[in-house]
Amino acid sequence: MHTRRIGDVTVSAIGLGGMPMSIEGRPERSRSVATVHAALDAGITLIDTADAYHRDANEVGHNESLIAEALASYGGDTSGVLVATKGGHLRPGDGSWTLDGRPEYLKQACEASLKRLGVEAIGLYQFHRPDPAVPYAESIGTLRALLDAGKIRYAGISNADTAQIKQARQILGEDLVSVQNQFSPSFRSSEPELQLCDELGLAFLPWSPLGGIGNASGLGSRFAAFAEIAKDHEVSPQQVCLAWMLAKSPVVVPIPGSSRPETIRDSAAAVDLRLSEQELARLDAA
Ligand SMILES: NC(=O)c1ccc[n+]([C@@H]2O[C@H](COP(=O)([O-])OP(=O)(O)OC[C@H]3O[C@@H](n4cnc5c(N)ncnc54)[C@H](OP(=O)(O)O)[C@@H]3O)[C@@H](O)[C@H]2O)c1
Repeated sequence: MHTRRIGDVTVSAIGLGGMPMSIEGRPERSRSVATVHAALDAGITLIDTADAYHRDANEVGHNESLIAEALASYGGDTSGVLVATKGGHLRPGDGSWTLDGRPEYLKQACEASLKRLGVEAIGLYQFHRPDPAVPYAESIGTLRALLDAGKIRYAGISNADTAQIKQARQILGEDLVSVQNQFSPSFRSSEPELQLCDELGLAFLPWSPLGGIGNASGLGSRFAAFAEIAKDHEVSPQQVCLAWMLAKSPVVVPIPGSSRPETIRDSAAAVDLRLSEQELARLDAA
């Protein structure tokens, strides 16, 4: 497995996104556990989760608990696995997503995540999304406090623009190690944030890299160039998409979501796919 860096942690160049295993349309638990185990078998050492990856209001942290359970039941060594979670989003249970970036809430959310993950310190804790009702510096200042208290080892931000990345960097210094933003063939407007992460040496974690849960399987039919290049290499369009992202910068670590062993195995294999400059230019223009 090819690797990349998040802070001083070495992780697989492709991570596993946990969301499809916990929100609406999720599979039964045993298939999710098998999916996490397949990811680990494939050499994946980054798992992205969040306290808000759940369906009903009374099961906050469903995905964090699932990941903890799957790691515990895996036969092999999981000490090198970085579990990256998030706080700041809530799901009241009606399918909507709400925000709370207040320091008192984030501290409480982090404590709950620590318990569910069963760790003394969270490897990477990401502020899920800016809350317009709370000054960004206050939410990010809470990550600083969590770092200082030893509750989290590294801090990340998500859904941040370039000004927010710079602001977070000022507050957190070298302890800010990652930015997680939406980026896919159908959503490319986060290129400026990717570029800034490249300049600053921050990991850039594209979310919904394949276009999102309901759209990922149709990537090749929406973007012909991805399907054609996939055919030439005898791989899936999804692998082409992930290899294209990896080629953008050494700071990119895509986190494709999966709820089936087959899909995460296929995605993990993208680390071995080399695309030519010509192919990459064609995909950029697609
Ligand atoms: N920070 C944020 O605000 C934010 C927002 C959204 C998501 N995220 C994170 O980003 C992760 C990824 O995003 P996402 O799950 O929304 O969307 P995605 O990764 O674009 O798509 C997920 C879907 O892709 C399918 N898939 C994965 N690999 C495939 C392959 N090689 N071939 C064919 N299909 C494949 C999976 O199908 P199966 O289910 O059938 O396996 C899955 O349902 C999430 O899981 C979550 O961890 C973060």
